[in-house]
Amino acid sequence: MACSSYLIANWKMHFSIEEARALIENFGSIVRKDSQVYVGVAPTMLCIPDCLSASRDRVQVGAQNAHWQKSGALTGEVSAHTLQELGATFVICGHSERRHQFGESNELVASRTLGILELGMQVVHCVGETIDERGAGLTNQVLFEQIDPIFSKATADQLKNLIIAYEPVWAIGTGRVAEISEIQEAHCYIQSIWRSGSPCPPILYGGSVKPDNYSSILEIPEVRGALVGGASLTYESFSALYQIALEQA
Ligand code: PGA
Repeated sequence: MACSSYLIANWKMHFSIEEARALIENFGSIVRKDSQVYVGVAPTMLCIPDCLSASRDRVQVGAQNAHWQKSGALTGEVSAHTLQELGATFVICGHSERRHQFGESNELVASRTLGILELGMQVVHCVGETIDERGAGLTNQVLFEQIDPIFSKATADQLKNLIIAYEPVWAIGTGRVAEISEIQEAHCYIQSIWRSGSPCPPILYGGSVKPDNYSSILEIPEVRGALVGGASLTYESFSALYQIALEQA
């Protein structure tokens, strides 16, 4: 189903298995199967099986990271293939915490995204500039380097499973949401990199999205939804975001 809007939770390293299962079960009970709003949750790896069984098929369950090879001498890695076997449908690739705390380069992230797209899974490919890069006028160059390898190397079929999340690093977990004009400029720039005649993949915004700012962000025509960290951790705030998405879908 083509969705008009995407609401994806990144639970990072929060919750025990039981807490994650309870939250997704509560949340799944209000998600409407027939709506145009795609709802996804990425819990920690070990919570995925329980979240899948509690999701009532209304919430897509994905991973925050994965390796694209089916198997190999890769100590500590989890194969996207195994996640797919479990029933996970998407993987977040290149989140800024992976890039900045775990040293993931553009090359590594591109291999990850391209390899996982090849498996037929959906990928939420995260991009965004640091505050210093923005200050130096490098935002577009940074975005180009993070996105162009994907747009130019993935096949048309694979690109149907791609979702881009524009997340300025300085807005993630800081409470400092980007200005509407900054979000719109970045989204328009990403669309300008897209050269194919088919519609550009959905571009979400991420970075301190909350129920009190989501409506105005969703009003930006180029924004197709959000990748949400902090505000996805309680039933109250995530369900409020979902209601806003439903009203504006
Ligand atoms: P935040 O996180 O909503 O807490 O800023 C967003 C993210 O990390 O994707």
